[in-house]
Amino acid sequence: MKRKLAVLAMTAVLGLSAVACGSEPAKDDSKKAETTGKEEGGKTEASNVANKDKPLVWFNRQPSNSSTGELDKNALNFNKDTYYVGFDANQGAELQGQMVKEYIEKNADTIDRNGDGVIGYVLAIGDIGHNDSIARTRGVRKALGTGVEKDGNINSEPIGTNVDGKQAAVQDGSLEVGGKKFVVRELGSQEMKNSAGATWDAATAGNSIGTWSSSFGYQIDVVVSNNDGMGMSMFNAWSKENKVPTFGYDANSDAVAAIAEGYGGTISQHADVQAYLTLRVLRNALDGVDIDTGIGTADEAGNVLSDKEYVYNADQRSYYALNVAVTADNYKEFTDSTKTFEPVSKQLDESKSPKKKVWLNIYNASDNFLSSTYQPLLEKYDDFLNLDVEYIGGDGQTESNITNRLGNPSQYDAFGINMVKTDNAASYTALLQ
Ligand code: BGC
Repeated sequence: MKRKLAVLAMTAVLGLSAVACGSEPAKDDSKKAETTGKEEGGKTEASNVANKDKPLVWFNRQPSNSSTGELDKNALNFNKDTYYVGFDANQGAELQGQMVKEYIEKNADTIDRNGDGVIGYVLAIGDIGHNDSIARTRGVRKALGTGVEKDGNINSEPIGTNVDGKQAAVQDGSLEVGGKKFVVRELGSQEMKNSAGATWDAATAGNSIGTWSSSFGYQIDVVVSNNDGMGMSMFNAWSKENKVPTFGYDANSDAVAAIAEGYGGTISQHADVQAYLTLRVLRNALDGVDIDTGIGTADEAGNVLSDKEYVYNADQRSYYALNVAVTADNYKEFTDSTKTFEPVSKQLDESKSPKKKVWLNIYNASDNFLSSTYQPLLEKYDDFLNLDVEYIGGDGQTESNITNRLGNPSQYDAFGINMVKTDNAASYTALLQ
């Protein structure tokens, strides 16, 4: 049986007060039934290990300073069984920029819709304080020659609008294709944050393309987005009908399918490998085996990854999956983003890796990538890895909406955490002290 996100809804609160005395975090009813059943079987009782010593994995949002990007080493070294799982943001960002550039080069004959010699693009920025978002903005500006240096790196600030090419945070780039020279201009960019504070907000991106296109639509030749959630929202609202290539990131199934309808391309951040690693590091720590088991070294079932799929940085306690560009050339291989990665999809023996209880949250139950790609993958791997995971879905805005539901950490053997803001690791670790 699969558990759905326990989004904090009135029904969940009411359901909880009917069965528990308020010390438990909220769960959905199906999960409650399952937990009770397993507890009766004596399999999933949490151990006597102190909460501060239990395995902890941060994923998708790396503990770091949202202004400077500096890693939060305290959080990454919370205890000896703490890790981060994400993907190589810079390698992916370079790929994204290259993918857009190559598309322009291949389609130089038709790309400049109004024939003014300027290839104009707009850019949807996810979260100005998120390392992945910053890297993608830089990757695109670098490849298209529109980046301007600031403090030794490409400026990643949003520019608002720049129809006349005079904004100081970007510059006009130039591209020469087949003897023809084009100017490349970032016409507009904006952080897609809604009024309640949720970032990477797809609806905001859909509204923004409406505003941009109504004032300078005929100048927009390319739409770029820091992720597919926002990219698809812009594609559906405007670019599909206007046949303007739109590029995203994440290789969500709907975006990959849209490539057949003119979506320009996306980047797979190998969520199938990340979701596996997220739970695998917990499993290994719980079993007290070498952390590389089933990762760089085959486990008894034969699960193993290769260095084509991930890198491990010991100093950062971080596993990074590698990215792959998904375009019209290869998209058919990526149509189901929730398919597990075959080399690591073998069931573990329950007598050696007994059932354990994991508390894991998704920072925003409405985030397209996390809810439509990452969580379905986690739900498949948790079975293979004999982990009984309780999934908690946040509102994407406040950390307390999530931490309030970690009322009794002693009930769990391990934790998987996806913060709302990368600066907020201590809001979680404080509960485990
Ligand atoms: C994903 C985005 C997602 C964000 C949330 C990024 O790595 O690419 O799609 O919204 O994580 O933290």
